[in-house]
Amino acid sequence: MAKEAKEKNIKELEDLPGIGPTTAEKLRESGYDTLEKIAVASPHDLSELTGMSVDNAKKAVDAAKQATTVVYSTGSEIYDQRKLIGRITTGSKDLNELLGGGLEIKAITEAYGKFASGKTQLGFQLSVNVQLPRDKGGLEGAVLFIDTEGTFRPERIETIATAAGLDPKLALDNMLVVRAETTEQQILTIERADKVIQEKNVKLIIIDSMMALFRSEFLGRGALGERQQKLNSHIHKLQNLADTHGLAVYITNQVMDNPGILFGDPTTPVGGNIMAHAATTRLYMRKSKEDKRIVRLVDSPSMPEGEAVIKITPNGIRD
Ligand SMILES: Nc1ncnc2c1ncn2[C@@H]1O[C@H](COP(=O)(O)OP(=O)(O)OP(=O)(O)O)[C@@H](O)[C@H]1O
Ligand SMILES: [Mg+2]
Repeated sequence: MAKEAKEKNIKELEDLPGIGPTTAEKLRESGYDTLEKIAVASPHDLSELTGMSVDNAKKAVDAAKQATTVVYSTGSEIYDQRKLIGRITTGSKDLNELLGGGLEIKAITEAYGKFASGKTQLGFQLSVNVQLPRDKGGLEGAVLFIDTEGTFRPERIETIATAAGLDPKLALDNMLVVRAETTEQQILTIERADKVIQEKNVKLIIIDSMMALFRSEFLGRGALGERQQKLNSHIHKLQNLADTHGLAVYITNQVMDNPGILFGDPTTPVGGNIMAHAATTRLYMRKSKEDKRIVRLVDSPSMPEGEAVIKITPNGIRD
């Protein structure tokens, strides 16, 4: 994979020409503690810091440059790694296919749509499915569920878990539910989540719904800037948790009618640009006949736009 050109076997600061233990110590104290940092340093700065001549500093920088290499990965290597990325089954084969295999980890997936379109039900199903063994489409992980609307229903989890072959009591024990009533509670839960994620092996974070509290607390045009700023840092922290812990994030979002759209479906998710850029994948859910729901993949870095039809049954999401 990486071709490391180890010129003259330089591995540490002390291996560089003209740099003895005392100089190396001075450099480390000033933050120049790796060969990479020396390689991009200015000889003048190093000279000033250590008292060595600019000429000698230049020799050390050049040697550090030669000893450090950029690590290239080929596209195929990255492709192979990505195939191994874990996914959570949605309960519907068609929806899994639409998503490229299921809900992706290290990413934020957003579902938006009108009331009763199935956003919360899909969240319940994912809360159960993430707990399944890997060969059944799960990640053997726990769930952190932030409920901002008071619509979390343990009875639904009980039914869905039983149908999925899990012990319903254990399934509920694996869910950490936070009923957030203010944006501060919502934000703080995410900000303090690192510890609990590690302790409980959380592999899925759900925020249902992402924007409800932000919308009700920040009213009017004057508050919009502050709202978007808070939302932005909240979303960054979420993405950061997803990346560092290799977990999936599922958020639901409300919609409004965009009067600017004259033709076609005016239904638009709320939250503006910040939300639009937050999610790696956006799903638009809408009601069809009876228990059928149409899920449209709106925005994905790798999958083509398309639709899947799912059913909300008493036992959960099905094809
Ligand atoms: N036990 C059940 N058995 C079958 N279907 C159910 C059951 N519980 C809920 N549903 C279906 O799920 C629908 C509600 O979906 P859901 O709560 O996911 O909507 P939502 O998109 O989250 O809406 P909102 O924007 O109001 O939060 C109901 O209208 C019903 O059709
Ligand atoms: Mg809901």
